[in-house]
Amino acid sequence: MTLGLLGFRHLPQVLEIEQRAYPWPWSEGMFVDSLRNGHLCYHLSEQDRILGYIVVLVTAGECHILNICVDPNHQGKGCGRRLLEHALAAASDLGAEDAFLEVRVSNDPAIKLYERHGFQQVGGRRHYYPAGDQREDALVYRRQLLDLKR
Ligand SMILES: CC(C)(COP(=O)(O)OP(=O)(O)OC[C@H]1O[C@@H](n2cnc3c(N)ncnc32)[C@H](O)[C@@H]1OP(=O)(O)O)[C@@H](O)C(=O)NCCC(=O)NCCS
Repeated sequence: MTLGLLGFRHLPQVLEIEQRAYPWPWSEGMFVDSLRNGHLCYHLSEQDRILGYIVVLVTAGECHILNICVDPNHQGKGCGRRLLEHALAAASDLGAEDAFLEVRVSNDPAIKLYERHGFQQVGGRRHYYPAGDQREDALVYRRQLLDLKR
């Protein structure tokens, strides 16, 4: 498995995984905006096949994980962990001292991944996500990155 920078050429594969992995997937435009705006975007691949990807916004002194996703056929094998660790180290190298993210209250696999990696819940946002004809609440998590300084 190799980690690399995500580029426009990867978008067909990414969009295909995104559609299978999320009930409410990101649009192509959201990935294009992330790439154009210089967000940290990485893929984890085996040969030419993308297994997962992560998109992180780095701003003054902090970063925000906007999307992390692993192909449903490859979940539970450590891909999410590798993507998260790599992106957090890269964000730390760019000066981020804290990482933030939102997650659906129902997303147990993602919550487990974040809590295993030192994220702690610091808040919530009511009705943050679409959920059919209703909305779902988000939990807000934060992790300090000072231990990653090198
Ligand atoms: C969340 C997600 C990225 C995790 O990726 P993954 O490659 O399956 O996770 P990993 O195999 O690296 O697992 C890391 C940890 O997460 C936990 N975990 C992962 N999948 C789990 C599952 N289905 N059930 C319970 N815990 C799970 C495990 O505790 C694991 O810890 P361990 O390393 O001690 O075993 C993946 O499930 C996914 O893409 N989900 C759909 C998209 C999504 O919801 N993204 C998050 C949006 S906030």
